[in-house]
Amino acid sequence: MAQQVSRLTWIESLSTLVQAGGPLFAKGIILRRPMIVRWLQATGQERRGIAAIQRLRGRHGEGPAVLKLGVRKEMLLLAPTDVQRLLDDTPIPFSPDSREKHATLAHFEPAGSLISRGPAREVRRSLNDQALESGCPRHSLASRFESIVADEMTPLVGQATLSFETFRAAWFRMARRCLFGDDARDDVALTRMLFRLRGDANWAFLKPKRKHLRARFLSHVARYLHRPAPNSLAERLASAASPGSRPEDQVGQWLFAFDAASIATFRTLMVLAADPAALGRSREDRDSARPFLRACVLEAVRLWPTTPLVLRQSDRPTLWHGQTIPAATGFAVHLPFLHRDTERLPHADRFSPAIWLDGTAERDGFVPFSAGPAECPAKNLVLMLASATLRTLIRLHQPVLPEESALDPHHLPATLDPFTWVLRLQPHPRDSPCAAPT
Ligand code: HEM
Repeated sequence: MAQQVSRLTWIESLSTLVQAGGPLFAKGIILRRPMIVRWLQATGQERRGIAAIQRLRGRHGEGPAVLKLGVRKEMLLLAPTDVQRLLDDTPIPFSPDSREKHATLAHFEPAGSLISRGPAREVRRSLNDQALESGCPRHSLASRFESIVADEMTPLVGQATLSFETFRAAWFRMARRCLFGDDARDDVALTRMLFRLRGDANWAFLKPKRKHLRARFLSHVARYLHRPAPNSLAERLASAASPGSRPEDQVGQWLFAFDAASIATFRTLMVLAADPAALGRSREDRDSARPFLRACVLEAVRLWPTTPLVLRQSDRPTLWHGQTIPAATGFAVHLPFLHRDTERLPHADRFSPAIWLDGTAERDGFVPFSAGPAECPAKNLVLMLASATLRTLIRLHQPVLPEESALDPHHLPATLDPFTWVLRLQPHPRDSPCAAPT
């Protein structure tokens, strides 16, 4: 299909913004608001957002759409090939430090790599790459981290029920130990401070920065980094830090993103509870790299991306399908549309972990962890921690959803609320010492 840049009218721009962007802002870009997430699942608003972009494409074709929003120009990219170009050509000419992203993340990580430019971004991204070992499928501290996962997650299987809040508390105990060492296990004050700052960050420009709280949070992190615990991520960070790399701000992003990882892991558990075939295959994943469980987590973030909007801003004029787009234009990729486009993808709404093992996901252009030079540097670490966590939870137990959840793995909702339903973890019949002999 020939592609061209289309310029939307005021009305079309506003209605796309409200229908596709509205639910994402309402549920909280940086800190999810449980009540709104529940409401979105009940009303299916996020599916309407995807449908609004599909209609836009039906009217104008799959070239980029320029939204008219006051003086600011925003381009919404619809074609996977355009998305790939945007991500590959990051940070020059497409900087991840967009005006909107800066306004949100600066509430708690003013020198985070995602909102830095030029040499400062280079040195901060490189610090992230070194400490998180982004290029390695298995982090050199993986064995230590797996034993922390086992320590923190095993007590959960002894409980009759598992709510997201209980899971999240255990996940953060695990995250703090991996990050800062065992002494930080119960440092909930640190995580609470960040939750407050993230709550503000949901409002971006609309809320003034709480500079004292932010300084307290960053100096609390810095204390851990000054005397890093052996075999912790802090130790890796401290030893790779260089002038201008601002390690404590990078940790701000890490701690924030660990929350996204907890939601993704819990959602994977919910879908596995609804999909006995996938659960069975996960339990048989004997390979120590747990490829099928990793694929399940990737599939959960495809279906419910925890970063639903990927934003960039051009630092110079750029050429798109024969048209020059001025510098300082904002670019947006709406991941729920890219990942769940029912007009393009036969498996759009189905839980299909196999697509991450047979090359389909790559061919279809799914990017829940972004791609290119700003791809999430913790992708491998997250998949390792999440799959180890799931393995611990399902090895001898069967996750069971309440009946009223009615989650159908062949037709999944556009929003999956992790906050409301409480799972049961019941001993798996095959492993129960009391199972009747067959
Ligand atoms: C489910 C879990 C996660 C998902 C889906 C995810 C996804 C992403 C995405 C999409 C981006 C790019 C954002 C953009 O371009 O605007 C990103 C960036 C980043 N993520 Fe993650 N992330 C996750 C967890 C984590 C964790 C746990 C950490 C740290 C331990 C982390 C560290 C980072 C960093 C440092 C960046 C910035 C990279 C840069 O500046 O180039 N992420 N992540």
